[in-house]
Amino acid sequence: MTIIGGTTLLIANSLSNQTLAYSMLQNKNRSEKDAATEYRKTWAAKIRRIHRFFGPDRADSLHILNLISADSNLRYGLLNDPTVGVEVRKAFDALELPQRGIDTRHRVVACGESYIPSPLMHVAITAKRLVEAGEVNTIVELGSGSSDNLFRCYHLIDWPFRQSVEFFGCEFTEKGREAAELLASREPEMQFTGYPFNYYKPDLDFLKDRPRKIMFFSNHSIEQITTLPDVFFETLLQFPGCHVAHNEPVGWQAHPLVAKARRTGDKAFFEKIRSNLTLLPTWKERYSFDPVLRAYARTPVSFNSGFWSFSKGYNTNLLEQLNTLKAAKRIQISTLEIHHAPGNLFVPAAVNPFNASTFIEWNNLSSAVTPVATEGTGTSTPAP
Ligand SMILES: C[S@@+](CC[C@H](N)C(=O)[O-])C[C@H]1O[C@@H](n2cnc3c(N)ncnc32)[C@H](O)[C@@H]1O
Repeated sequence: MTIIGGTTLLIANSLSNQTLAYSMLQNKNRSEKDAATEYRKTWAAKIRRIHRFFGPDRADSLHILNLISADSNLRYGLLNDPTVGVEVRKAFDALELPQRGIDTRHRVVACGESYIPSPLMHVAITAKRLVEAGEVNTIVELGSGSSDNLFRCYHLIDWPFRQSVEFFGCEFTEKGREAAELLASREPEMQFTGYPFNYYKPDLDFLKDRPRKIMFFSNHSIEQITTLPDVFFETLLQFPGCHVAHNEPVGWQAHPLVAKARRTGDKAFFEKIRSNLTLLPTWKERYSFDPVLRAYARTPVSFNSGFWSFSKGYNTNLLEQLNTLKAAKRIQISTLEIHHAPGNLFVPAAVNPFNASTFIEWNNLSSAVTPVATEGTGTSTPAP
């Protein structure tokens, strides 16, 4: 097998190792069972971690999450600070970043002895904006796991808005819902409810109990669904005027070459990426005679994320579905920022540069508030 480009280390790998590795690369479809098995364990471990930081001192959900992730809160309003404003604005100009007060989608952060732009987009920040503008009073996370995003969101939203908001953590696994309940027990003032939820059989009828202004969001949970079914969008579109935000690793779906290879299950294409998988393409890749490697060197994040999706069976059709709905004028897409961040912004330790996040915001063009169910509120789909 020929290894084109790549590092010396890769070339030094034995042929037998390469052959073994390649033989394991498959065009996977991620099943409900795969995800359930993996996430039952993930959320059971999270429950153990929550207990470790639960403490006798009644720390609230945010303290617990920050202790778990050793995270620090995002800082707001720096651009409006009269002391540092001018200097920070200059830094934004130097990096050619948009700077419209705190509306900018990026901030400048220090990294070693350099300042680099860092994205300031997160589903919780969108939720904060919409709640404080009076556009939303119900926030629903889909595939929420332990609902960390909702607890962070609750703490981000200014007083007194946060207490008037209802939060719903819709999660597939029982263990994830259990972890969320544990965190919710430390937030007696928060209106939080956990529900079972399955993207393949979505049931959100419990939201039809009264008129609501809803924001739905997903954060690296649609990634788990190889082919998101039409019924998922039809379910969301039952809620006129709803706002939706996704932070999902789907940016590669906009890259024609990678999207085509993923669509056709082109194993040879992804084996080539795998043998070159890198964060910094080499000069060999940049000037390779192989057009695929040259394209890889120009857009490594798209190629790596496409490879990640191929090897894990991660989502293949979110962008396509949204573009179809947009063309039919059923939704309006207000934000599409491809590869704005690696992994999860709030958990720097867990970021995966090969599974880069893309941020999408859209809203349902049929306006009005939630239709109220006339008979019963339906039942939630049982999930593991
Ligand atoms: C990477 S975790 C993200 C959890 C959470 N959104 C967060 O940001 O912390 C993926 C989540 O998707 C959920 N999931 C997997 N399959 C699902 C399905 N068929 N329907 C709904 N959620 C699913 C998992 O249980 C897990 O909680």
